[in-house]
Amino acid sequence: MKKHIKNNVYWVGKNHWDLREFHGSEYTTTKGSSYNSYLILEEKIGLIDTVYEPFSTEFIKNLATEIDLKTIDFIVVNHAEPDHSGALEALLDLIPGTPVYCTENGIKSLTGLYHKKDWNLVPVKTGDRISVGNGKELVFIQAAMIHWPDSMFCFLTQDNVLFSNDAFGQHYCSELLFNDLVDQGELWTETIKYYANIITPFSHLVNRKIEEIKSLGLEVECICTSHGIVWRKDPAQVIEKYLEYANGYQENQITVIYDTMYEGTAMMANQFVKGITMEDPLVNVKLFSASHTNISDLVTEIFKSKAILLGSPTVHNGVLYTIAGLLEFVNGLKFKNKKAATFGTYGWRDLSSKVIQKSLQEAGFEIVMEPISANWRPDEQLQERCVEYGKTFARSVK
Ligand code: FEO
Repeated sequence: MKKHIKNNVYWVGKNHWDLREFHGSEYTTTKGSSYNSYLILEEKIGLIDTVYEPFSTEFIKNLATEIDLKTIDFIVVNHAEPDHSGALEALLDLIPGTPVYCTENGIKSLTGLYHKKDWNLVPVKTGDRISVGNGKELVFIQAAMIHWPDSMFCFLTQDNVLFSNDAFGQHYCSELLFNDLVDQGELWTETIKYYANIITPFSHLVNRKIEEIKSLGLEVECICTSHGIVWRKDPAQVIEKYLEYANGYQENQITVIYDTMYEGTAMMANQFVKGITMEDPLVNVKLFSASHTNISDLVTEIFKSKAILLGSPTVHNGVLYTIAGLLEFVNGLKFKNKKAATFGTYGWRDLSSKVIQKSLQEAGFEIVMEPISANWRPDEQLQERCVEYGKTFARSVK
C-alpha cells in the first residue's frame, strides 16, 4: 500500500521489521530497517529507487496494484547498492527500455552488479533537470562518496522534496514513517549510529555538499531518505546535525573498551572508570567489553566520545581479535577530534598496549598518556595506579 508523502509524492518501499544485521554482520539493526522507494505521480510518472532484491517480487506486485507499470515514464537510481537497486532487474524485465537516470558512476556500478547491456541507463550530473510535468522538475545533485562514488540526490521543485538516498537515513523501521511521529530517542539514536558507521569517513564531503545544496538555492521542505523515516517536520534539523557530526563531533563522554582473557584487563578497565568518575563526576564514562558488544555499537560510542581508553591482553605478539577488528574498523572511519590512551596485561612480552597505541595514532587519535600495563593480573598496587591513571586521563581530556 502506498503512503502519501506530499502532494503527488508517495512512499512505495518495504519495511523490513525483522532485519537484525546489515552489510553482512557488521552493523546491528535492532530496530529493523526499511528500503524506501518513492513514486512521483505528476503528468509524468517516476520511481525513485527500488528495494532490496529478496523483496523485489513483493515490491513489484504492490506497485502494480497502485499503477499500471507500463505508465512509468522513468526510474531514478540515486545509488546502485543492492539494497536500493535490487528490484530493478525484475522491474525492467516488465518495462524494458524505461529510462533509468543515474550518474556515470551509477552506470558502472549497475553494469558491474547486473551485467545488463540493454538497459536504458541515462547519465546525469549536478544541475541536470528533467520535467515531470505540471511545471515541476527533478533536479539532480551528484553526491559522490556520500557514500559510494555513484551516490546522488534529486530534488523535486515546487514541492521542495529532496530525495537524499542514504544520507540523513537510519536503520530504523516504523509504520509511522515521519520524523515528527516516531519516538525521538529511537530516531536520534539510530541517526547517529548510521552516521558514525557509514558516513564518518566522508565527513569532509558533507560540509561541501550541504553548502552546494544551499548555493543551488533549493529550499528543502521535506527529505525523503532511503532508510528509516521521512524528515517532513523541520528537515533543517538533520542537516544542522550532520554539520555537527561532520565537524569533529564529540559529547562529554569517555569510553573505556577492553577485551580480557582471565579478567586482568577487565580489572584495569574498571579501575579507570572509578578514577575518571572520581576526577570528573559529570563526564559520561561508559565501559564496554569488546567481545560482548557489537562493533557497530562500539563505533557509535567512540564517535560520541571526546576520548577513549582501549585495552587488551597481549596474545601472540598482538592483541585479541575483537580489539584488532575494532582497530581495523576505526582506522577506516578516520575519526576527528579524539584523544586516547591504551592499556593491557601480559605474561612475558609487554606488547598489547603499545600495539593499540600505534594503531590509534595511525588512525588519527591524539595519544595523551603513556600506555599502562600489568604483568599477569594486576595486584592491589597496580589497581590503585589504574585509579590514578583514570584521574589523570580525565584531567588531560577535560
Ligand atoms: Fe542503503 Fe549505500 O545503500
